[in-house]
Amino acid sequence: MMPNATDMRQQLVDACRRLDQLGFVPATDGNVSLRIGRDEVLITPTMAPKRLVQPSQLLVVGMDGRVRQGSGRPSSEMKMHLAAYWLRPDVGAVVHAHPPIATGFAAARLPLTDPLLPEAVATLGPVPLAEYATPSTDEVPRSIEKLVAVCNALLLANHGALAVGAGVAEAMDRMERVEHLAKVTLVARLLGGAAPLGAGDVARMLATLPRRGDGTGA
Ligand code: 13P
Repeated sequence: MMPNATDMRQQLVDACRRLDQLGFVPATDGNVSLRIGRDEVLITPTMAPKRLVQPSQLLVVGMDGRVRQGSGRPSSEMKMHLAAYWLRPDVGAVVHAHPPIATGFAAARLPLTDPLLPEAVATLGPVPLAEYATPSTDEVPRSIEKLVAVCNALLLANHGALAVGAGVAEAMDRMERVEHLAKVTLVARLLGGAAPLGAGDVARMLATLPRRGDGTGA
């Protein structure tokens, strides 16, 4: 059943609080959105500390970027969110944050594409690096287009990370996994080098995964 408008606003506010608790959105960083209809998206306002965002502050925008409901201005990264929805009809939520270790990889311009952890391979896939683009400009949606069409999470060079999902929970899980993968990759490299899983290991692992919707929780 489709959640009602109040529930959808609460889902986004809860995600904002969680991002803040995780330390992924210092000061007013980050933005979150949720597709609430064929042509409408609920999104955080620009320059809002995520720990303080209230349901009434969220804005409804059309897929053309025009504000339909709410006062104030939507996130300056709205076009990046809309690009993900335009390109991926399966995407129902978008999370943009600046988790410190993943953002370190983005600043070092190092993607997280090696298959290191089975859970990350299964639920996230490779996390490539989008070329640097000036935040809040049209360069940002352009920089992610090719990657978000085929990936569920990516790094934005010298900026942060982006994760998409069918809903807020999945997009948030993916953002958390990006930061976890970045931490583990960093530690492995400090310890002398990460040893990626072999192609056979990856194929065997993917073949043993429970299928979506069969009640086993995958
Ligand atoms: P907004 O406050 O406009 O959403 O921007 C925050 C941010 O993280 C920009 O990349």
